[in-house]
Amino acid sequence: LSLGNAFEESDVTEFLGRVRRFLNLPEATEIEVTAEPKIDGLSISLRYENGKLVQAATRGDGAEGENVTANVKTIGDVPEKLTGKAPAVLEVRGEIYMSHKDFAKLNEKQSQDGEKTFANPRNAAAGSLRQLDSSITASRPLRFFAYAWGEAPELPAKTQYEVLEAFKRWGLPINPLTKLCKSTVELLQHYQVIEAMRADLRYDIDGVVYKVNDIGLQKRLGFVSRSPRWAIAHKFPAEKASTV
Ligand code: IVH
Repeated sequence: LSLGNAFEESDVTEFLGRVRRFLNLPEATEIEVTAEPKIDGLSISLRYENGKLVQAATRGDGAEGENVTANVKTIGDVPEKLTGKAPAVLEVRGEIYMSHKDFAKLNEKQSQDGEKTFANPRNAAAGSLRQLDSSITASRPLRFFAYAWGEAPELPAKTQYEVLEAFKRWGLPINPLTKLCKSTVELLQHYQVIEAMRADLRYDIDGVVYKVNDIGLQKRLGFVSRSPRWAIAHKFPAEKASTV
């Protein structure tokens, strides 16, 4: 695997530089960072109480969102009950999306039925989630990946990666391309792996999200307004040609 001009990849190096400066770490310090695809879907916040899904709201970043609980309960990827020893309160954040194949099938059916078609899988996912009748949502092939948390008074681990592993044990789907990178080189390599796989994935992604792995460091880094200082979305360069 060639790193190409990866060392000029300013998004990555600038992010790590900012993190080190804020934490007063020497320039050569390696910081563990997770890297995973940025799913081009609809962000969602799921509230679990004693392992039971009690509320689902759009806008996973914690701002006011629509209550879509009944509709989300029809999505097979979203467990209504967490398996194993789940905490009393857990707010899971993630992305609802539709696969390319299911999007094409849905549009075909929509046009056969004389209904409106959707411009892209993200719009199809959004339209399918915002239905007054949840039996319509149930008929739509929506999928889900969990990647973060909001309110979570008792976290099962001290690192981002291990919390995601716990999510997986509890039955929440985690993107299989999520990787714990122990060095800048590994992080840049994984960006290139994901970028190279993009065309073969069954769903749309528009970049790679990096997160400082150590939750203690995440807390020290904190937020600037709503944006975490410990995470960044590294967007892919805009596509020159669209592929089918
Ligand atoms: S974590 C920068 N992880 O991207 C920190 N967000 O640009 C982002 N998104 O509204 C929050 N995939 O809906 C995170 N693996 C992922 C994501 C992801 C897609 C969306 C999310 C958010 C937006 C932030």
